Amino acid sequence: MKKEMKIFENSPTCVIGKMLLRSCILLLCTSLVKGGIEDIRTKDSKGKCIGNIVKKYFKRSNTISLVHMGNHNELVKVLNTMQLKTIISRSPQSNMTILNEHYVIDANSSTYFIKQFRYLVYERRWNPTTRFLILIKNLNVHDLYNVFDILLRYHVINILILNSTADPDIYTYNPFENFGCGRRYDRIIDLGKCSKSYTKDLYPDKLITGLRNCTFNVASTHWPPFSIKRPINSTYIMVGIEEYIFRIISQLESFNINVTFIGDGEKFSTISENMSIDGPLSFVQNGADMVFGGLVLVEARTDMFEFIYLHLLDQDSLVYLVKKAGRVQPWRNMYLVFQVDVWLTLFLIFLLYFLLFVLFFRPKDKSWVVLKMLSFMFSSGTGIRGSFFKRSIFIAWVWCSYFFSSYYQSTFSSVTTHPLMEHQIATVEDLERYNLKSCVSETILDYIEATLHDKQRFETLEQCKLYLDSIQFVSQSEHEYFTVVHFHKYQYYKLDYYNEYGEETMYKLDKPIYSSLNCIYFYKGFPFIDKLQMYALRVRENGMINAHMSRLYREFQIHYKFKTKDSKELEVLVPWGILGLGSCLSTLVFVGEILIKKFNDKNKSK
Ligand SMILES: *[C@@H]1O[C@H](CO)[C@@H](O)[C@H](O)[C@H]1NC(C)=O
Ligand SMILES: *[C@@H]1O[C@H](CO)[C@@H](O)[C@H](O)[C@H]1NC(C)=O
Ligand SMILES: *[C@@H]1O[C@H](CO)[C@@H](O)[C@H](O)[C@H]1NC(C)=O
Ligand SMILES: *[C@@H]1O[C@H](CO)[C@@H](O)[C@H](O)[C@H]1NC(C)=O
Ligand SMILES: *[C@@H]1O[C@H](CO)[C@@H](O)[C@H](O)[C@H]1NC(C)=O
Ligand SMILES: *[C@@H]1O[C@H](CO)[C@@H](O)[C@H](O)[C@H]1NC(C)=O
Ligand SMILES: *[C@@H]1O[C@H](CO)[C@@H](O)[C@H](O)[C@H]1NC(C)=O
Repeated sequence: MKKEMKIFENSPTCVIGKMLLRSCILLLCTSLVKGGIEDIRTKDSKGKCIGNIVKKYFKRSNTISLVHMGNHNELVKVLNTMQLKTIISRSPQSNMTILNEHYVIDANSSTYFIKQFRYLVYERRWNPTTRFLILIKNLNVHDLYNVFDILLRYHVINILILNSTADPDIYTYNPFENFGCGRRYDRIIDLGKCSKSYTKDLYPDKLITGLRNCTFNVASTHWPPFSIKRPINSTYIMVGIEEYIFRIISQLESFNINVTFIGDGEKFSTISENMSIDGPLSFVQNGADMVFGGLVLVEARTDMFEFIYLHLLDQDSLVYLVKKAGRVQPWRNMYLVFQVDVWLTLFLIFLLYFLLFVLFFRPKDKSWVVLKMLSFMFSSGTGIRGSFFKRSIFIAWVWCSYFFSSYYQSTFSSVTTHPLMEHQIATVEDLERYNLKSCVSETILDYIEATLHDKQRFETLEQCKLYLDSIQFVSQSEHEYFTVVHFHKYQYYKLDYYNEYGEETMYKLDKPIYSSLNCIYFYKGFPFIDKLQMYALRVRENGMINAHMSRLYREFQIHYKFKTKDSKELEVLVPWGILGLGSCLSTLVFVGEILIKKFNDKNKSK
């Protein structure tokens, strides 16, 4: 057995075997050592390189959002040792309470990145305009296109993608070159190795051609005067205010807009917990670049969109509308010319004088005194006999009643040209006092709910569901309902609610519920928002918007024809009638009195 062994040892096969074994061990050892060395160096160089990028390019922020997608803590340790900034270590699903200032994303694979990225986007504090640094493990070129497609869809521009290797390659893209307008990219830009990157500008300004030669898709509702859908072949030529502003800005910045109308805008866009949006604003999530339609600003929307505001000189507001008070019934003018206190005073003075007469002169027939006093009130004359004292008191009464009757008559004649009105419901307290019921459209109810979080304020009737219907309903009701509208829209349609003589039938309460801001909404990350905002303000300051608004109103309202009233006699007939009849009667009585006197005198002289 031993011999056998020896033989085996000395045989050539054995020597080769030994050598093989040795080299194997050596190889194993060296590869182990080498691997270890490389690992350490990798981490170091990758971490250092990323640290340098963060230090150089993320310096304007206070915090960095470090998003983990499958990898944990590796990068945190590296960045922490470099003591750069406050690092917020988060997962894609966590709900940030502060704005994400810069993103560093560490993903274990591109598929996992694509899956998780939407959680970042559907977050209120999502911030696509900031700078991004994304590390992805095992990235291949095909994946790279998928990743950039996703980033393009969510309008992320300032981005570096690093293949998570020892000395990673840096990739980026530019959807604004070759007039891509943020819609397409023609190539992936290779910025070379991370370790060599310090010579380059990694986050250049990519929007060098501005908005030139771009066409933006606009979804627009029909919501005059902000956006107006012109019927095909209509004679109207005017566009809504928001389209007008953008047509002007597009001339300045040489871009185009392609406006698509998407309905009447009655649906109020709400944003649900999971960040899904309905109504007109959902078009921003589905490919439109901006939405027109006088959409008001509410808090939830500020987080979800970019917007332009303050382009109107006088801001819109939510106002109460009630039916305008009509004229009082004609015969009521007779007593309404004096107010209650005047009538009361008259009555008291009458009583006072009556008591005076009764007290001083103690007449047998007291009704005679009353009749005499009344006859003075109606300016009919009689002789007064008696002592000086008695006559003075009577003359005082004559004087007093003369004042009353002439005031009454002059007021009464003024009523014929300034007719008296019913009480106008003009305050919110009145609404309650007169127990008016609400007739408020759905869209306003949703708006109120979104701003005040208060659904139970108004309930609504079936006939009031639509915006203009609610105004129509109130204008035809008998002072039982009120509605709530946006002032500008009502102002535009105002003449629809005039009567045939061109008189208003609706009354706007002075105090608005609250004022509202109308905005033009864009997707988050729309380029040059500040510039567009500034242009909108300049357009407003030049008075162009107000001029456009008045042209708009004029164009819409010029088509209304109202009857002109031949005269105002219809309303003044009764007061004049009463006045006329009274005058005739008193003239007749006066003449009669003279005749009777004459007749009596003749009889006496006979
Ligand atoms: C990445 O991480 C996620 C979550 O930990 C895991 O489900 C997934 O399998 C990982 N992918 C790879 C390629 O490791
Ligand atoms: C995120 O937090 C906000 C309040 O900060 C809350 O209104 C919202 O519902 C939260 N979203 C989710 C998906 O939890
Ligand atoms: C990323 O690194 C891996 C491993 O080194 C390599 O196979 C792959 O080609 C690299 N991907 C890109 C896009 O450079
Ligand atoms: C604008 O785009 C058109 C094609 O869409 C192109 O022919 C034209 O050259 C572009 N204009 C500029 C200034 O590049
Ligand atoms: C618009 O006018 C054209 C010709 O003037 C006519 O052919 C077309 O039918 C009209 N369209 C409508 C919707 O009236
Ligand atoms: C305008 O948008 C509509 C709908 O998005 C589209 O069908 C149409 O081709 C666009 N027009 C232009 C000129 O881009
Ligand atoms: C979000 O929630 C709404 C209801 O609040 C639901 O209809 C919609 O399907 C949800 N969307 C997603 C993406 O979960």
